[in-house]
Amino acid sequence: MKTYDDILGLIGKTPLVRINNITKQHKIKAKVYAKMESLNPGYSVKDRIGISMIDWAEREGVLKKGGTIIEATSGNTGIGLALVAAVRGYKCIFVLTEKASTEKVRYLKGLGADIVVCPAAAKPGTPDHYVATAKRISEETPNSFYPDQYNHPENPAAHYRTTGPEIWDDTDGKITHFVASIGTGGTISGTARYLKEMNPNIKVIGGDPYGSIFKTYKESGFIPEATPYLVEGIGQNLPVGNANVSIIDEIINITDRDSFDLARQLGRREGIFCGGSTGTIFAAALKVAAELDENGLVVFIVCDTGEHYLSKFHSDEWMKEKLLLEPQRINAGLIAETKDGSSPKELICVSPDDLLSDAFAKMTEMGVTQLPVIEDHRSVGSLKESRVLTKLLGDRELLNSKVGDVMDASFPVVDVDTSLNEIKAKLQKHPAVLIEDFKRITAIITRSDVLDILK
Ligand SMILES: Cc1ncc(COP(=O)(O)O)c(C=O)c1O
Repeated sequence: MKTYDDILGLIGKTPLVRINNITKQHKIKAKVYAKMESLNPGYSVKDRIGISMIDWAEREGVLKKGGTIIEATSGNTGIGLALVAAVRGYKCIFVLTEKASTEKVRYLKGLGADIVVCPAAAKPGTPDHYVATAKRISEETPNSFYPDQYNHPENPAAHYRTTGPEIWDDTDGKITHFVASIGTGGTISGTARYLKEMNPNIKVIGGDPYGSIFKTYKESGFIPEATPYLVEGIGQNLPVGNANVSIIDEIINITDRDSFDLARQLGRREGIFCGGSTGTIFAAALKVAAELDENGLVVFIVCDTGEHYLSKFHSDEWMKEKLLLEPQRINAGLIAETKDGSSPKELICVSPDDLLSDAFAKMTEMGVTQLPVIEDHRSVGSLKESRVLTKLLGDRELLNSKVGDVMDASFPVVDVDTSLNEIKAKLQKHPAVLIEDFKRITAIITRSDVLDILK
């Protein structure tokens, strides 16, 4: 029989997958391979350290039967630890920051863990910081193990023992460049140590978000003030024990925009559905690969699955809110769905049989300056405040007329997939456009709705 004794047997031995379409577009001659850590049973690179730190604690007698594992995590290490805890019967408490996606929090709860959430803005060393909170809870909990992934030697050691040799063997020793991110630093430090022992010419590159300290810290020894960024799980505002920056040859800063854009491209163009930190790493890998000839062989880490971020950067709505969505992805449906709070979300309209006085009162009450006239879900005309006022100045009695007798032509009608550019062109001639979906007018887009996107 070909079976596994438990889920933990599936950790590691992840494949290398060649990147084709994106490298071709960038005219890259070197071979670029993704190390598919998202195929681990907890869907991230951190499964490797979950089991190695727990094995250590059991060996050393730190973790005893029925004990509790307590850790500060951006989510993935928690998942790696929780898998082992589920199989071996430990309890888990994980301390996360508000930045962790809802998907990761629910996943951890699904694996039976208890969750404590700390403010993302809490500074290291303050009592509310997630690391200080995890430490405090572990001190207060009897028979508990606090792995401390930032300093535990079994974190880089797991990658030295497994990730490094797998990459070396699977490339037949031909790897020339290794690219990873730096969160705790375990992946990059442990893998780099093995690879450089096998061949000191292998270059190791770290992808780091703008706002994190690692690049400046490596290049000057100075610790700059960190600034916020949106990518999860990587970068730091202080040096950490397991991030051995001296083994890294170069650190490349990457913007949130490029990280999310490239992570999304990996899904759409290579079928590799990944998280934002993989986008940071892949952006750095492409920069490195662009400088190489056909003898270059770049391996980069796919840290985790995109499923952890369905409500974040894999959502067009979230990307639009953060002003990060590529303009070509913005269409009529998305604009209507994500109108900001100042414009009414529901369609405000009148019927041709309504009295103009009622229509005018509706405009004033709802604070709108135009109204579509709808009959049987179709657009039959429009009312614009300035035109109505001009007509009323000439003849006040018109207030008692029906809308159908005084209305103007309908606003242009588009479908949900109409692009932002087409909508912008129509709004240069008309104050609004209407969206038709399944033969019903469902929404209106005004000039101010589009200006909100372009701000
Ligand atoms: C999504 C994600 N990417 C990358 C990393 C970085 O890995 P490491 O801590 O080994 O530097 C982490 C670490 O938690 C992570 O959660």
